[in-house]
Amino acid sequence: MDQEAIESFRAQARLYKHIFNYVSSMSLKCAVQLGIPDAIHNHGEPITLSELVSALGIVPTKASFTYRLMRVLVHAGFFATTKVNKGEEKEAYVLTPFSKILVKEKINCLSPFVVGMLYPAMMMPWQFLRTKKSPFETANGKPFWDYMDHDPVFKALFHDAMRSDSQMMNLVVKDCEQVFEGLNSIVDVGGGTGTIARVISEAYPQLKCTVLTSLTLWLTYQLLAT
Ligand SMILES: C[S@@+](CC[C@H](N)C(=O)[O-])C[C@H]1O[C@@H](n2cnc3c(N)ncnc32)[C@H](O)[C@@H]1O
Repeated sequence: MDQEAIESFRAQARLYKHIFNYVSSMSLKCAVQLGIPDAIHNHGEPITLSELVSALGIVPTKASFTYRLMRVLVHAGFFATTKVNKGEEKEAYVLTPFSKILVKEKINCLSPFVVGMLYPAMMMPWQFLRTKKSPFETANGKPFWDYMDHDPVFKALFHDAMRSDSQMMNLVVKDCEQVFEGLNSIVDVGGGTGTIARVISEAYPQLKCTVLTSLTLWLTYQLLAT
């Protein structure tokens, strides 16, 4: 093969990798919605395909599709495979660091972030990057925060995504004493669900933490709390 052909095939492979990048994010969303990280975690040991299909309540005739989905997810690094011996040697799936933070019972679970950020209203704007108006408004008919008030499912998923993302602060805030040194109070502007303020306030109870956020969000949370 001549040099030009080699270069073209390498370029094609790279191009296709980028064209089909969405396959891994959409497969990840599907894995979270099916509850695959929880099923593997709850199994307590490496899980074979047939055990996974049964744990997920998928009809056995669809096992081959689950296998293909798992191949994509393993390739992307979300899960890994190992060998188990159950009478005969079989392939089985285990969690990786990327899927350990998607298990629902963990305090720092990012599954809501996966579902919220990959919601159709968040994906469609990418089809309209060339438009004069904002891509989000072109795709969804309203600016971001206004749209949210017209799509309660998105609103709930978005704020749950923000809460799960903020929850990660639990891992570091207690080690950031110097950041808050000499402060008596802080205001989290656009603090949403108040998760970050709560995490900071729990780590530094002497700090007065105030959350400034949109009134409609605050009212939604008050209604949900009652
Ligand atoms: C990126 S999110 C921050 C999320 C926050 N860290 C949490 O854990 O929920 C920005 C927040 O600002 C709020 N917001 C948007 N526009 C606002 C406005 N004009 N005034 C006050 N808050 C606003 C939104 O409701 C949203 O919750």
